[in-house]
Amino acid sequence: MLKRTHTCGELRKDHIGESVNLNGWVNTVRLHGQVIFIDLRDRYGKTQIIFNSENYNGEFESAKKLSLEDVLSIAGTVQERGKGADNPDLTTGEIEVIVTEMEILNEAAPLPFVIYDRNSAEENLRLKYRYLELRNDELQDNLMTRHRAYQETRSYLSDQNFIEIETPVLMKSTPEGARDYLVPSRIHHGKFYALPQSPQIYKQILMISGYDRYFQIVKCFRDEDLRAERQPEFTQIDIEMSFVDEEAIYTQMESLTRHIFKKVIDVDLPDPFPRLTWDEAMDKYGSDKPDTRFDLFLHNIKSFTDQSEFNAFKSVEMVRGLVVPGGSKYSRKNIDGFTDFVKKYQAKGLAWMKAEKGQLTGGISKFFSEENQKALMADVGINEGDIIFMIGDKKEITLVALGALRVEVAKQEGLLPSGIYEPIWVTEFPMFEFDDESNRYLARHHPFTAPSTKNIEDLDTDPGNLKSRGYDLTMNGYEIAGGSIRNHRPDIQSKIFELLGMDEAESKARFGFLLEALKYGAPPHGGIAFGFDRIVMLLAGSNNIRDVIAFPKTTSATSPMDESPNSVSDEQLAELNIRIVDKDK
Ligand code: AMO
Repeated sequence: MLKRTHTCGELRKDHIGESVNLNGWVNTVRLHGQVIFIDLRDRYGKTQIIFNSENYNGEFESAKKLSLEDVLSIAGTVQERGKGADNPDLTTGEIEVIVTEMEILNEAAPLPFVIYDRNSAEENLRLKYRYLELRNDELQDNLMTRHRAYQETRSYLSDQNFIEIETPVLMKSTPEGARDYLVPSRIHHGKFYALPQSPQIYKQILMISGYDRYFQIVKCFRDEDLRAERQPEFTQIDIEMSFVDEEAIYTQMESLTRHIFKKVIDVDLPDPFPRLTWDEAMDKYGSDKPDTRFDLFLHNIKSFTDQSEFNAFKSVEMVRGLVVPGGSKYSRKNIDGFTDFVKKYQAKGLAWMKAEKGQLTGGISKFFSEENQKALMADVGINEGDIIFMIGDKKEITLVALGALRVEVAKQEGLLPSGIYEPIWVTEFPMFEFDDESNRYLARHHPFTAPSTKNIEDLDTDPGNLKSRGYDLTMNGYEIAGGSIRNHRPDIQSKIFELLGMDEAESKARFGFLLEALKYGAPPHGGIAFGFDRIVMLLAGSNNIRDVIAFPKTTSATSPMDESPNSVSDEQLAELNIRIVDKDK
């Protein structure tokens, strides 16, 4: 091998006349008669190298056979590019290397897709050959961004006196929220470890043990339905602090977020971050992770629909409207598409009216008197050429469905600006949500979150209306972090377990060690966890979490490259005392 003297991103005008050795991959090949132009690529960049029969000491015909992704080492001389041949897109675009010697270090088989064009193959094929896709510039940039985000996080938190402590990956199963990934024990037949959904209990225990400020960049595992911003294994920046209230946490975490955005992509985030209560966010945006980059809002139009002849909306709990400027251009087909869209969010339908020639037309407009139409148009600001979409249903369905439509319309109308980052704290979450299916309360954050009351009696009076001391940090429509002030008093923690439908025996069996630990001098504490992959996704300007993870899983939780999950040998199963019951047999 001709040992490299420079990387493929390094050579500049200053190097003209020097003899250099480069190592790298053939990124592109162009034949111009008796001259071969190749862009040689490595992690650092690309350099144009040129074979011509005058200077090249090897066999010219074999150089002609070079193909994409062959691995080469070359020796040559740096020269200035000819007039007009500069390439401002390349950092090395002012020079080229005239090859004198070449060694082929490895030939590449014909490629399943074009490396520099990710659109040349379906995602599943690219994931099967992930090692090839990872050579693409965009993914290399994303992983560099990720690397810088790790380093900035660690240095910032360490400077602020946080210490990094690892917590176990094999733990007891304490499912709450998502399903656990389980790991069978070989030594204890019939028993299982669980992979942590988060290090929540461990970090609280570290506070009880006096570590004061903890952080960890940590893998978490959740067996849940996957979406564009979710992975079964993902990474958190996990943080816990003692003797703090919400304000101390907001200040510290805003500062961390500002630091990361400034250092990694040179973006200044606001100081302080704006806040919305959960009620405000739901009411105005129909989402607890509102995308505030565009000004479309949900309007309460119940008083107008109540006065109309449209009876379907009269008996419902809530009616909200969304005005889309210029939306009267939507065809029947467009509107049917939006109707199908809101049905995914359990809305029964989507009512609409267009503003044309000074009045409301189409859809359900005939049920509105002229006077009522005028009043509605003035109240919510419906202008000529606009459309108003309306949903009437149970509160949560109305808000969530119309909130989702708000974002969908913004996407289709190109209202989502890139390069703009709008962080917002969402506060005052409801403590519990009632689950009709299991007929019990579920914790909205997790069961260790403190209620907004210090008074244990309040917990019994109206649990459904109680707020928690939980908070989320959202940005551009993504939840990028979530956390809370915790229950440090064992009596309150036990009471919460009770309200969540766990009797004493069950809460002892599941969380006995935590309840016990809380008895031995637990300091007031609270914390947060950032979805690290989501932050990197925003930093990288991507909207697909898989684009910022080296080896992600598909939306059906598989890895096409290494073919996981997969079956295991009968010997392995026997050792674990596990038998597969095949339902098909
Ligand atoms: P939570 O469950 O809100 O809180 O998770 C914290 C953050 O992690 C990210 N996140 C995910 N990212 C990718 N794929 C997933 N499947 C996924 N699930 C969650 C989100 C989310 O805001 N222990 C608590 C934190 C605490 O209370 O301190 C917790 O895990 O960005």
